[in-house]
Amino acid sequence: MSEASRIRVDGPAPYDVVVGHALRGELAGMLGDGVRRVAVIHPQALSKSGLATRDHLADSGFEAHAVEVPDGEAAKTSEVAAYCWKALGRAGFTRSDAVVGVGGGATTDLAGFVAASFLRGIKVVHLPTTLLGMVDAAVGGKTGINTAEGKNLVGAFHEPAGVLCDLATLESLDRNELVSGLAEVVKCGFIADPGILDLVEASPSEAVDPATPVSRELIERAIAVKAAVVAVDPKESTSTGAVVGREALNYGHTLGHAIERVEHYSLRHGEAVAVGMVYVAELARLTGRLDDDTVGRHREVLSAVGLPTTYTGGRWTALHDAMRVDKKARGDLLRFVIIERLGRPAILEGPDPALLAAAYAEISR
Ligand code: GLY
Repeated sequence: MSEASRIRVDGPAPYDVVVGHALRGELAGMLGDGVRRVAVIHPQALSKSGLATRDHLADSGFEAHAVEVPDGEAAKTSEVAAYCWKALGRAGFTRSDAVVGVGGGATTDLAGFVAASFLRGIKVVHLPTTLLGMVDAAVGGKTGINTAEGKNLVGAFHEPAGVLCDLATLESLDRNELVSGLAEVVKCGFIADPGILDLVEASPSEAVDPATPVSRELIERAIAVKAAVVAVDPKESTSTGAVVGREALNYGHTLGHAIERVEHYSLRHGEAVAVGMVYVAELARLTGRLDDDTVGRHREVLSAVGLPTTYTGGRWTALHDAMRVDKKARGDLLRFVIIERLGRPAILEGPDPALLAAAYAEISR
């Protein structure tokens, strides 16, 4: 088995994202000195891993607690956060204690939020178990829960002390989940590292097989893109003029989030983002900012791994309305991340409504 790789995320409190196999032995080191109590927050479906992590920590000398939460998005509620705060409070957690989040993006978002808010912030280490979690949710410090009014409306930036990506966890992942996670990997190819696109095009079947070196390289490259972006703009505050910061990670997400909302979250996130990327590519082409070949490449690379590139819902008005309430919109102006060429993100603000509809016509079937 090959060695683990380490990707450094720079910033005021730098940390490592470790990618490899059988990484639990790294956990104590990541938690660091001074931590006595650890709460392992895990979903019901991963109780075996959650309890094994707790037992490992107990064997390493920590006072370890397992906190089971509902599976998936059902964990991202104020009630579940309050349940976790109560568990930490009852176990006497102090500022020098820590949370470990074991699970997919929803669990690590919740665990990060609990850690960010308890005693105004305690340490958190993430053990993501999905591709989406590894390449996106667990890295970069965005944490949050949903409210009845929308997703991720309450949250905090709270960088983890480290992230452990055990590739073995992907081997039991549903193939559709894996393909969905690849949308975020492909996104990193368009906004920053075109080598990702070359790899996917050369070996699409290996890209969707987590046991292959291609899959591992894709994961490492996507994490490296995210690490570089969040190191420069940790709080998504520097998209001005030609400089696009963390907002670049939102490529394909404006329409993607709208599709998710209109479809009542019945589509996977990556599927909606894949369609959203083709949409913004068309929008960039129609505004004269992107060439035909690069737009075509969006369709080719996404469909090569089984991601959708068209939308059949036929609900433009509902999608348009949903985009207007996107967190990233400013006032009445719709705002899109586009690319002007591979690896060159830019912002398109307030495009003509006729162009918005014309780009939609290009992806609507
Ligand atoms: N998921 C986008 C970000 O972390 O900024």
